[in-house]
Amino acid sequence: MEQRNTVIHLEHVRKEFSVDNRFFSKGKRTVKAVNDLTLDIKKGEILGLVGESGSGKTTLARVILSLTKITGGSVLVDGVDIGKASKEEKKEFRRKVAVMFQDPASNLNPRETVESSIMRPLVLHGMPKKEARKKALETLRSVKMDERYLYSYPHQLSGGQLQRIAIARALAIDPQIMILDEPTSALDVSVQAQILNLLLDLQEQRNLTYLVITHDLNVIRYISDRVVVMYLGKMVEVGPTDVICTNPSHPYTKALMAASPILDPTLRGREKSIMKGDPGSLIHLPEGCHFHPRCPCAMALCAKEEPGCTALAEDHQVWCHLCK
Ligand SMILES: Nc1ncnc2c1ncn2[C@@H]1O[C@H](COP(=O)(O)OP(=O)(O)OP(=O)(O)O)[C@@H](O)[C@H]1O
Ligand SMILES: [Mg+2]
Repeated sequence: MEQRNTVIHLEHVRKEFSVDNRFFSKGKRTVKAVNDLTLDIKKGEILGLVGESGSGKTTLARVILSLTKITGGSVLVDGVDIGKASKEEKKEFRRKVAVMFQDPASNLNPRETVESSIMRPLVLHGMPKKEARKKALETLRSVKMDERYLYSYPHQLSGGQLQRIAIARALAIDPQIMILDEPTSALDVSVQAQILNLLLDLQEQRNLTYLVITHDLNVIRYISDRVVVMYLGKMVEVGPTDVICTNPSHPYTKALMAASPILDPTLRGREKSIMKGDPGSLIHLPEGCHFHPRCPCAMALCAKEEPGCTALAEDHQVWCHLCK
């Protein structure tokens, strides 16, 4: 496989939130949203991040974007530790990494025209208004929308058009890395493919690196080169998309894949039983493997000892006692 450089390096990253539990008068509790995660994202790759709701995906995105302070570990972007970066390096970093959050309303201001929405980050980065206006038009065209939309407001646009504008807004700063949190979940199925194809075209034209966060495994299958599977703040499996989708090793990944509509229907009923039980709590994490209370193959060891990393291939790792 082609050797590509690492653009983002996460080293034993932890992000904990203190939550007030006054209702039960027990004082503060800790939510371990991202729990000791080590990962490299390579230049030019499309990395998919999947996991149930609350597994820590958006928190991880916010950590990479430096929108939240990490509790432990380090995040390096192009070799620069963002926790120790100078003001200049931070400014540079904000130009390199763009984001599109899962809630479309948080990407666009309802009171701003498309033009001013796209221009705003450019002006904030110090670009003169005239140049920013030109760039806004250029970027709008690159997401296959024409000039007349520049003066529209968000409520005048369809879901697909809004998502194109959100992409244009993220692209305008000419980032190298884009974090896409649920890029298609708010869209009609017929529009989803158009948006994914647009993202793929832009990635190829601009040699972008994507971190795509989604619940939708069809999106992952369609768009990503590699997949990271998270469960309760931890990585449980990482590998090439075809391996993770067709021959997953971790019981949790198997369950996720089985819950996805395109897999072999004869397997679906059996595998779905794995997902019975509550998704665990990030406050009261189970001892041993965090997935063991829901795992149909759990052994005595799984309740006692947290599994370490097993490399099944150079590019395929899993954290499961059963896979040793
Ligand atoms: N600011 C915060 N304060 C307290 N807890 C938080 C905060 N932000 C996130 N959490 C908790 O961290 C955990 C992970 O949340 P996160 O939003 O990262 O999950 P997610 O995988 O993105 O879920 P979803 O798929 O629903 O978007 C959740 O239990 C959430 O309640
Ligand atoms: Mg999320």
